[in-house]
Amino acid sequence: MKKPIAIAPAAGKLGVMCVGLGAVATTFIAGVLAARKGIASPIGSMTQMGTIRLGKRTEGRSPLVRDFVPLADLNDLVFAGWDIFEDDCYESARHAGVLEASLLDQIKPELEAIKPLKAVFDRQYVKRLDGPNVKKGRNKRDLAEQLREDIRAFKRDNGLSRLVMIWCASTEVYLSETPAHQSVEAFEKALEADDSSIPSSMIYAYAALMEGVPFANGAPNLTVDVPAMVALARKNKVPISGKDFKTGQTLLKTVIAPGLKARLLGVKGWYSTNILGNRDGEVLDDPESFKTKEESKKSVLDYILQPDLYPELYSDICHVVRINYYPPRGDNKEGWDNIDMFGWLGYPMQLKVNFLCRDSILAAPIVLDLVIFMDLAKRAGWSGIQEWLSFFYKSPMHAKGLYPEHDLFIQSMKLKNTLRYLMGEDLITHLGAEYYD
Ligand SMILES: NC(=O)c1ccc[n+]([C@@H]2O[C@H](COP(=O)([O-])OP(=O)(O)OC[C@H]3O[C@@H](n4cnc5c(N)ncnc54)[C@H](O)[C@@H]3O)[C@@H](O)[C@H]2O)c1
Repeated sequence: MKKPIAIAPAAGKLGVMCVGLGAVATTFIAGVLAARKGIASPIGSMTQMGTIRLGKRTEGRSPLVRDFVPLADLNDLVFAGWDIFEDDCYESARHAGVLEASLLDQIKPELEAIKPLKAVFDRQYVKRLDGPNVKKGRNKRDLAEQLREDIRAFKRDNGLSRLVMIWCASTEVYLSETPAHQSVEAFEKALEADDSSIPSSMIYAYAALMEGVPFANGAPNLTVDVPAMVALARKNKVPISGKDFKTGQTLLKTVIAPGLKARLLGVKGWYSTNILGNRDGEVLDDPESFKTKEESKKSVLDYILQPDLYPELYSDICHVVRINYYPPRGDNKEGWDNIDMFGWLGYPMQLKVNFLCRDSILAAPIVLDLVIFMDLAKRAGWSGIQEWLSFFYKSPMHAKGLYPEHDLFIQSMKLKNTLRYLMGEDLITHLGAEYYD
């Protein structure tokens, strides 16, 4: 046992501010409300259902994660959010069509009480959407100040002790870093000057960091993944994490690819295609928003397969990712993967995966876990990039000079070892030689 890290207790209420109250956010909120009432189970959530092994295998110590680390209780979560549409959470959840009306009706009053705050939104960054519930301001700095006031009012009016903000809004168009993103000073000047390299998501993130509120990014947007935001997070002692919830096809890719690599099986081509018909699919139908998503989805294989270390097996992979907007499917995405692989003496084989998944059903537990772990990080006094939360993301943020870790099993080990470290328990190496002494 080492000395545990000092963690402030999870006392009082935790405010959860969702940017975007669409399919993912409402499925998350409705799920928490249903779980609280014992109507449904929070399946897929590490913080609610996961266990963690402590000590040697012979010790038989495997508590629930939530009994091991001091986490916020589901009953202490209070929800708010911004959206460009005026629908309350009940209407929005009905529109999203993910959860059945029979479930939503049992938590209708609580969902109806969550009405969207006016959003910071600019069509320049999300071309396929437009809505009426949008703030007006003199410039981007003024909009950031209005968001900060929303945060303070939510905290004050609900007697909250802590807050977390999570981006569950649409994917913005592809942006690259500019000089405005290089330092906090340059960023603040750019806010004042209405610089077009500052999308709406960065205005929310800036407001959160200025208010000392941890910020998690569920979409592939640049948002907090620029030097100015990392510096601001460090300066204000706030945790940040991102990007892009790792659900459906990419989740499976980061399960299958490490397996093939572990057995030194070669890959020639990996063709991934999807059909989905929700609003996310509609936004991603715009080539500029799709490019942001495509970059996020494509980086995974290169990092996992390490073609520089295994040129004979993994250089020259043809990796294609397609997303097709197909309204009849709604949120029930169907993904196909065709993997052209080769084995002993170069003999070819094929693997086909057909995943009939539900996008928001896979994303909701990730939102919950991120909210709860980001709050834990803040109470543990951690700030800046929380790489230990890579487990939940398609394009994990990482320190300059490092490559991101995409392998789901390494990510899982890293997450659990971080929790052991936090609580002063021995890290688990899986060496296990002592059992045979
Ligand atoms: N569901 C998944 O499996 C999954 C996985 C990874 C990432 N994501 C990302 O999560 C995000 C949410 O997905 P979804 O299916 O809920 O989409 P959605 O379209 O149902 O919801 C997004 C909501 O954000 C709102 N919005 C857009 N810009 C906004 C702004 N500037 N301020 C406030 N609200 C804004 C929209 O009006 C919409 O209601 C998307 O970016 C998606 O790419 C989802």
